[in-house]
Amino acid sequence: MRSPWFYKQWRLAGNPAVFLRDLSGKFGDYVHYRGLLNFYLVNHPALVKQILLDTHESFDKCSSIYDRFRNVFGNGLVVAEGERWRRKRKTLQPLFGPAIIKQYFDGMVDSTHRMLDHWEMSYLGKGEFNIASEMNRLTLEIAGRALFSHGFDGSARKIEAWTEVINHYSAKPPLPIIRSFWFPSPLNIRLKRNLREFHSFIRSMIEQRRSKNEIKDLLGTLMAAKSAENSNGMDDPEIIDEVLGMIIGGHETSSSALTWLWYELSQNPEVEAELLQELASLGSPHEFTLEMLPKLRFTRMVLDETMRLHPPFWFENRNVAQETHLGGVVLPKGALVVFSRYALHRHPCFWRDPDRFDPSRFEPGQEEHKRTTHAYIPFGGGPRICIGIHFAMMELLVVVAMTLRRFRVVLGASDRHQMAAKLTMHPKNGVRVRLERRNN
Ligand code: HEM
Repeated sequence: MRSPWFYKQWRLAGNPAVFLRDLSGKFGDYVHYRGLLNFYLVNHPALVKQILLDTHESFDKCSSIYDRFRNVFGNGLVVAEGERWRRKRKTLQPLFGPAIIKQYFDGMVDSTHRMLDHWEMSYLGKGEFNIASEMNRLTLEIAGRALFSHGFDGSARKIEAWTEVINHYSAKPPLPIIRSFWFPSPLNIRLKRNLREFHSFIRSMIEQRRSKNEIKDLLGTLMAAKSAENSNGMDDPEIIDEVLGMIIGGHETSSSALTWLWYELSQNPEVEAELLQELASLGSPHEFTLEMLPKLRFTRMVLDETMRLHPPFWFENRNVAQETHLGGVVLPKGALVVFSRYALHRHPCFWRDPDRFDPSRFEPGQEEHKRTTHAYIPFGGGPRICIGIHFAMMELLVVVAMTLRRFRVVLGASDRHQMAAKLTMHPKNGVRVRLERRNN
């Protein structure tokens, strides 16, 4: 293992995804980086598998990076550890099974319809707009309506503003002192005020459901969730933490995947043509039903390939909980281990022509990544794999299929493409597009 000291440290503050990929390109798949931040960078699927699955008990989320998220998500599932995490996961897992999340399908379709109607009125034939902001608003609405039903609609603007502040805060690196939570920096003060308001909104939604228990939404389901080990269910502060984790973890990720998909389709017209063929085979373009989802085989491949090249949660880190062996090296307790899904998903030893957009890699039965487990992990792996994976995949399929059947999304002349890697990976300036109506 190579151990560079302060190697191009300043580039970490620029685009860390590109920097980490270059770092493993230059020093190999296992690097001990020493600088202002010390970490072990892992870029081999076998080592990632060991961290996430085989010896996952030796790694936890008690890192300075996750500590920062704890200021937002409290003890929620995203950051919980040990026995507390296990109990929560057992209680929450049944709420996100493939059969259960079907109840959110109609809401997804309805929100997408509303967005497309708004596009028709505001954008069709009227020049260029930023599709990244549209995707962000849509996925926030989908998550918000799944959680709060129509309680979302009246507070959409406020929820958008609160989540913006939380996302902005979560994307900052955990620098000592000035980024410590007690320090009265303008961002800390803003975050605390926004969290107070968001908590009070969620509390009012909880109270509403207590008085009218006919409201059936994800919040109501969270309030009713119990398990053999958690027969009393969750108390209000726990529910608030989970709601925040789901709304923050579940909307910017989906919106990032969708935004990249529109960009990639604009660059790959032959892929778009094949997608349209699949969508045409569904029948009337005016209806979209749950039964159509399993028929979207190629659409799913396109989404998989989009999240290979542009994994929304591109970065992962773990704290070494107890001295452990990884890849022939003894890692001391307290060491920081990191990996980049961006680098892993473009590793030249595991992907042919890795920077090329090619959905055929995910052809069922001959998927390139199945040859090496943990070479493809947009939703993570092992016991902490994303709990919202089925919800997210259904949402992505709905939005892509419905939008493409109605409009052609064309990259605008004013688009200035540049990738940025913060909490999620996204086009720095959004994606400027214009619309054309499909002749169905
Ligand atoms: C394209 C969309 C999404 C992507 C790419 C994504 C990605 C991920 C990843 C990579 C992890 C694992 C992090 C780790 O290893 O620690 C994760 C965990 C998690 N995700 Fe997602 N996610 C998405 C959508 C969602 C949605 C829609 C929800 C909620 C409904 C959600 C809720 C969560 C939660 C609660 C966890 C923590 C699970 C645990 O630690 O047990 N995610 N997600």
